[in-house]
Amino acid sequence: MDIRKYQDKDKKNLQYICIATARPLPKNQKERDIVTLLYNDYFTENESENIFVAVNDDDDAIGYIICSTDYKKFKSVLKKRYLPKLWKLSKKKWLLMRLEFLIDNRLTKKYPAFLHINILDGYQRKGLGHKLMDALVGHLRNQGVKGVMLGVGSDNEKGISFYKKYGFHEVMKLPGALKMGLFIE
Ligand SMILES: CC(C)(COP(=O)(O)OP(=O)(O)OC[C@H]1O[C@@H](n2cnc3c(N)ncnc32)[C@H](O)[C@@H]1OP(=O)(O)O)[C@@H](O)C(=O)NCCC(=O)NCCS
Repeated sequence: MDIRKYQDKDKKNLQYICIATARPLPKNQKERDIVTLLYNDYFTENESENIFVAVNDDDDAIGYIICSTDYKKFKSVLKKRYLPKLWKLSKKKWLLMRLEFLIDNRLTKKYPAFLHINILDGYQRKGLGHKLMDALVGHLRNQGVKGVMLGVGSDNEKGISFYKKYGFHEVMKLPGALKMGLFIE
């Protein structure tokens, strides 16, 4: 297994990983579309230079770390190109996303970048999460990005344990979720 930069051929695998590791597991096509729209498509289609993948011996992606380094761009592109699609799929998710903007607006000064990380079940707890995080943090450091944040479900024990072990700290407690951050020296 290896870590490398994202390539266009990885897009379908990333969507698959995104859906397979989502909690709760999407139950139908509409839910699968929502999950990939919110947590995958913006990044692969607009900031693919900020993605690293873990690959198996056949060079197929089995995990990824995906990141936006420019929150203003993320928000404006998402509003223009992705939220109208979300509105059609789920008004509730659309509203939640707009609320999340209000929260994240307050955090982006300290933490200009934010990330999602997902690894297929059979490949977890083998050190790949740490390697993906090292690759991204090094990449952010080279660009002078001073902090990165993320949101994690309060019940996602392995996620929270992983982030704490990596050095992330708690930034904000929300109903059912936690914002965590890491300063990059
Ligand atoms: C969270 C995740 C990225 C961690 O990646 P990983 O490759 O499994 O983690 P690493 O092997 O680098 O690090 C291992 C540490 O992660 C945590 N961890 C990973 N799997 C765990 C599990 N099944 N149970 C409890 N802790 C776990 C622990 O802190 C563990 O350290 P330990 O083995 O000393 O207890 C990965 O488990 C994953 O993709 N989970 C599903 C998607 C997800 O929840 N993403 C985060 C959403 S915000």
